[in-house]
This record gives sequence, C-alpha cells and structure tokens, in this order.
Amino acid sequence: MRALIAVASKHGSTSEMGRRIAANLRHSGIEATFCLAEQVKSIQGYELVVLGSAVYANKMLPAMTALVYRWGDQLAACRTYLFCSGPLDAPVPGNVPLPPDARALMRLSGVKDSRMFGGAMALDRLRPSERALMRIWGSKSGDYRDWAEVDAWSAQIASQALGQARDEAAGDGARDEAAGDGPDETPPTA
Ligand SMILES: Cc1cc2nc3c(=O)[nH]c(=O)nc-3n(C[C@H](O)[C@H](O)[C@H](O)COP(=O)(O)O)c2cc1C
Repeated sequence: MRALIAVASKHGSTSEMGRRIAANLRHSGIEATFCLAEQVKSIQGYELVVLGSAVYANKMLPAMTALVYRWGDQLAACRTYLFCSGPLDAPVPGNVPLPPDARALMRLSGVKDSRMFGGAMALDRLRPSERALMRIWGSKSGDYRDWAEVDAWSAQIASQALGQARDEAAGDGARDEAAGDGPDETPPTA
C-alpha cells in the first residue's frame, strides 16, 4: 500500500510530526512518502493520504488550502486523514475544535478521521509582529507536541488501512472464486 503524508508548516514543527507519522506507517509495512504540501505534484497512485497543517489565526496554512483546492476530487477517492497542530498548552484540552476550513475539508473530502495536536513555538523564531500577537494572546512558547498521541494515531491509521486492504483482497478473491465456479464457455448447442 502506498501512502502520501503532505504537510503545511511555517516553522517546521508540523513537518516533524508528518515525518514521524510517515516513519510510523513505514514501520507498519506501508510504503509512505513524506512531502511538503507545496511540493505535491499528484496524489494519483496513493491509496492512503495523511494531510497535516499548522494553524495560524484559526486557519490552515495557504499551502494546504491550495492542495485541497487542486486535488480535492482525488482526495475524496482516497482514504484520507487530517491533522492540525496549534494549541500551545499542556495538556491540549480534548475539545479544541479544528479550524472552520479544516472542518469544511473533512466534509468535502470524506476525511476518515482527524486530530488537533498540540503545537510548538519558540518566540525567538518569530517575526516581531508575530511575537507581539503571541504576547497579546498570552500564548506561551514551548513544545506541546504529544508524541505518544501522534504514535497512537499513526498506529490506528495503519491498522484501519491495512485491515480494509485485507478485506478488499478477500472480497476480490471470493468474487474470483465464485466466477470460477461457473461455466467457462457457453456450452455448444446440438
Ligand atoms: C502568529 C501566530 C498565530 C497562531 N495562531 C494560532 C491559532 O489560531 N490557533 C492555534 O491553535 N495555534 C495558533 N498558533 C500556534 C501555531 O499553530 C503552533 O505554534 C504550530 O505548532 C506552528 O507550526 P509550524 O512550526 O509547523 O509552523 C499561532 C502561532 C503564531 C506564531
């Protein structure tokens, strides 16, 4: 099974989560490719797609919006999962909703499952304007990514995707067998 993990990230912390998910899927036997959202050329040939975006001002990053705009129809035909990373708080409250554009993506592309993971931010990596916003919001800097949660979600994706592939293969086998039971040719008429 081939999987694409495509991530939109501004300061790199969401990319690291995407790379971790790709490594976990590979460990489960899935041929997983990691790519930045802006570098995706096609999603053809992937049965599984995991999308991830950092959240800024309650929106996914433009690179993810562009990816969805371009490949939305094909995404609907894949087994697609979505995560966002944002909240700078520990523990991340369980009820933090995905931003509205991510929820719309879920509806339009038939996303199977989603997660809002904690984010990470070092104030010294920000532009002065961003730093000022963080101060106004009272946001703390720090790394609030929960790697155990990321690993558990990857394991769930792998088990669901591989389980479905097995079921489909078994269904195909049963259909082939049933087709094989019937007459191979039209019997000759006397
Ligand atoms: C200017 C600014 C705005 C942000 N807005 C949000 C937000 O609306 N919601 C949220 O959950 N996190 C917000 N964050 C936190 C980031 O989403 C978080 O730090 C994320 O992990 C950054 O990912 P990246 O390193 O991949 O860019 C904001 C951070 C900054 C600096």
